[in-house]
Parts: sequence; structure tokens; C-alpha cells
Amino acid sequence: MDLNELLECAVTTAVTAGQFIREQWQQPRQLRSKGFRDIVTDADVAAQKMITDGILGRFPDHGFLPEEDDSSLPRRGLIRWVIDPIDGTTNYSRQLPEFSISIAAVDSEQSILIGVVYDPMRDELFRAVRGQGAWVNDRPIRVSEVVALADALFALDWSRDETLRNFILTRLAIIAPQVFTLRAIGTAALAQAWVAAGRIDGYLNLSLSAWDVAAGSLLIQEAGGQVSDSEGRPLQWQDTSKGILASNGRIHQALLGQSDQNR
Ligand code: IPD
Ligand code: CA
Ligand code: CA
Repeated sequence: MDLNELLECAVTTAVTAGQFIREQWQQPRQLRSKGFRDIVTDADVAAQKMITDGILGRFPDHGFLPEEDDSSLPRRGLIRWVIDPIDGTTNYSRQLPEFSISIAAVDSEQSILIGVVYDPMRDELFRAVRGQGAWVNDRPIRVSEVVALADALFALDWSRDETLRNFILTRLAIIAPQVFTLRAIGTAALAQAWVAAGRIDGYLNLSLSAWDVAAGSLLIQEAGGQVSDSEGRPLQWQDTSKGILASNGRIHQALLGQSDQNR
């Protein structure tokens, strides 16, 4: 499989859908509840259709793992596309300008081959190719060189679930007093892209899905960082039941509360 062909298709479809959601972002939205504290807008569904139509037009025998249900899409194929058409739907629906599009292509061995996270409001396109590196627009990116929690910009996002929120508070009670400062972002895919680009040093999220981490985790790995589940085990992108801890690698153990803290 030609990885550049996959990448080009991901970039084209992400930018096309990104233009659409950027044009729409201050219009009134139709909202629908998908579950507890979980919403989808008409723009999520329309953007996903643009992306999947674009991919199928080019690769009719590929399969899909998209966030929004679409029974017309093939599930299996030579390559599977893992898609979050708007990551940060709550931000988007409240006209907070922090959201992204996440697209990854995965092979039959579940290896992530390419990943794209597009920030349409800043026109920043983060892309990674397995074994070849990571870039924002045309600039190569690397994770930060921060080694001490005292210098770290640490970000997180809140779970929908009450028990998990309390669990994040427990982790925060340990981390917050030690780090330089904290942020909550509201789009996990973009947060991972920012870890990859060295803009933030660590990111914790206890409740994510495969489409939230497929592209972002490849970006971080290719930029020299580390992604594990929230307890420090290697992340399997298909199983996000334990959330993720993403970092520049240098502060990973410290964020887990392990011995080389504040080294
Ligand atoms: C959400 C965002 C958010 C994260 C949630 C995700 P969505 O994705 O990534 O940052 O905390 O867990 O579900 O629903 O906006 O695509
Ligand atoms: Ca998402
Ligand atoms: Ca989404």
C-alpha cells in the first residue's frame, strides 16, 4: 500500500470537511442526544459523509470505523479508516473555536499507517506517517524537552461519567500542585497533536474511543513522545477502556506518580 496515497486522501478529505465545519460554526445547529452528556450535531453527520464519500470515491474496497453510525458503510476492507468528523462537538455546538477532524488509516494487522488531525480554525494540518515522522503543515514536529513536572504544561479533559470525573480529581490532586500550569482542551485529538508539536507536555483523558486516539497516538509516537493507557500500559488504539496518558516521554513516569518524578 502506498502510504502517500493514503495520506493525500486523508489530507484532502480532512481539509474539505474542515472548510465546511468552519463555514458553519456560527450557524444555529440541530442537536441530538446520543447518550449521557453526549451530543451530535447535523454538522458532525454531514462532515463525516463528506469524508467517507471522498475516501470511497478513491478506495471503494476500503472499510470504516467512523464515530457516527452509518449502516451504508463497509466495516471491513484492505484498509480501515478510523474517523472522528468533529472532535470537540460540545465546543463546536457552543461556538468555542477549539475542535478538530481526526482521520487515520489502519492495516489488517491493526497497525496505524497514517494519521491526520486538522484544526480548521487555525488551518493547521497535523500529519504522521508510520516510520517517517510527523509534521504540522510542512514543518516537522517534535515533542517538548521539558523534563520536570515543575516546568510542565499539563492538559486533560473531563469524562462524562461521574465516577470517572471523581477519579480524574484524584489524579489531579497529585499532579496539579506539581506542574507549571493546567488546561482543559475539549478536543482530545487536537490535544494529542499539541503534545506531538511540543505545545503541551502531558495529556490525560480517562474516557475515549478508538476514533479519538488513532491519529493522535501516531502523531505522538512519530514526534518522539509516549502514549499509554492511564495506568501506564502500552496503548492499544482499539481498546481505550482505560483512557490515555500522552506525554513527551520525559515526564511520563512522573505523571504516573512513579519514582523519577521531578527528576
Ligand atoms: C470528545 C472530545 C473530548 C473528550 C471526550 C470525547 P467528541 O469527542 O474528544 O475532548 O474528553 O471524551 O468524546 O464527542 O467531541 O467527538
Ligand atoms: Ca471525539
Ligand atoms: Ca466526534
